[in-house]
Formats: sequence, structure tokens, C-alpha cells
Amino acid sequence: MDATGLTAQEKITLFSAWGLIRKDLDIHGRNMLLLLFHKYPHYVSYFDFTDDASAQTLVDNKSLYSQSIHVIKTFGSLIEYGLKDPALFNETLKKITRIHAERNVYGKDILTIGDVLLNYLAQVLGRQVSDALPDAFRKLFVTIAGRFPVEPTEGDDKDRERSS
Ligand code: HEM
Repeated sequence: MDATGLTAQEKITLFSAWGLIRKDLDIHGRNMLLLLFHKYPHYVSYFDFTDDASAQTLVDNKSLYSQSIHVIKTFGSLIEYGLKDPALFNETLKKITRIHAERNVYGKDILTIGDVLLNYLAQVLGRQVSDALPDAFRKLFVTIAGRFPVEPTEGDDKDRERSS
């Protein structure tokens, strides 16, 4: 098994599904982020979309749109280029974890966003989605999540502060 944690067949499954959304990636990326915020509203506060001062709602916020394009393109590069080249996959993942350092994003948040993306894909692709996609997709997200820190348990910081 290489750095991706996936079998050759799982890579093909992911690559094919990606091919179906790649044409309108900007729209899908924004929809996925909006769906994340709809299901888990507390994640909105992680981001800063105030660059677009004129937007009335998240849906028409161009700062959100712009950031969602970066997020989805970066995720897509793991599939499009990383699955073929595990060393590149590894480097891309390093970059992704570095972007999120100090932002309180943990492995469990990655698994949550993975579930949202999978739900979204099932909705937009319907019967075009192969039966093998959910498992392959979840495996990919387990690999990504494994590179993120584990959420500190309640009280960790306070205990440290008290003893210092
Ligand atoms: C596979 C999953 C993810 C990928 C590929 C990814 C990718 C990225 C990228 C490329 C950026 C830079 C965006 C830009 O410069 O416009 C970014 C920023 C960010 N991401 Fe993620 N992300 C992922 C998951 C998450 C999750 C689960 C959270 C938690 C809610 C999160 C929170 C953030 C935040 C707060 C920023 C900073 C935005 C800013 O610059 O203010 N990301 N992410």
C-alpha cells in the first residue's frame, strides 16, 4: 500500500467520479462548502469572508466563492495528480495540513467534510456514482484525517495552564 492508502481499483473509482464533476468544479466547490455550513453552521466562524463587503448572504459572497475554489482545486489535485504519484500526494497533503495549522482543524473535521462531500456527490451524480465510491471516498478521507491533529480532549489546555 502506498501513501494514498488506496488500492488500484479504488483509485480508478475516485478518478472516474472526479471526472464527472471536474467541468463545473467552481460551482460544485461552492455548493459543497455551502452544504457544510448548512449542516454544521459553527464552521462558518472558522472563515473570514469579509473581503466581500457588499454580499448580503453567504450564497452570493464572492470571498466564499473564491476560497471554495482553492479548497476544491487543492482537494482535486490529490485525486487528479496525487493518486498517480504517491510522493506528490504526500507533498500536497503536507501543504494542506500546514495551511490549517493554528486554525483548530482536526482529523474529525476532515471526516465531517468528507461525509458532506460524499453526500453531495451522491446527490448530484445520482446513479452515475459507482457502488464502490462511498468506501473509496471514505478511505481517502481517513488517510487525509490521519495527517491532521487529534482534537485535544476537554480540559487538556486548562490542565496545562494550571500546572504551569
Ligand atoms: C480535504 C479537506 C480540505 C482541503 C483540501 C482544504 C483546503 C484549503 C485551502 C486550499 C485553503 C486556502 C484557501 C485560500 O487561500 O483561499 C484552506 C483554507 C482554510 N480551510 Fe481548508 N481545506 C479542507 C478542509 C477544511 C476543514 C474541514 C476546515 C474546518 C472547517 C477547513 C478550514 C479552513 C480555514 C478556516 C481556512 C482559512 C481561510 C482563510 O484564509 O481565512 N478546511 N483550506
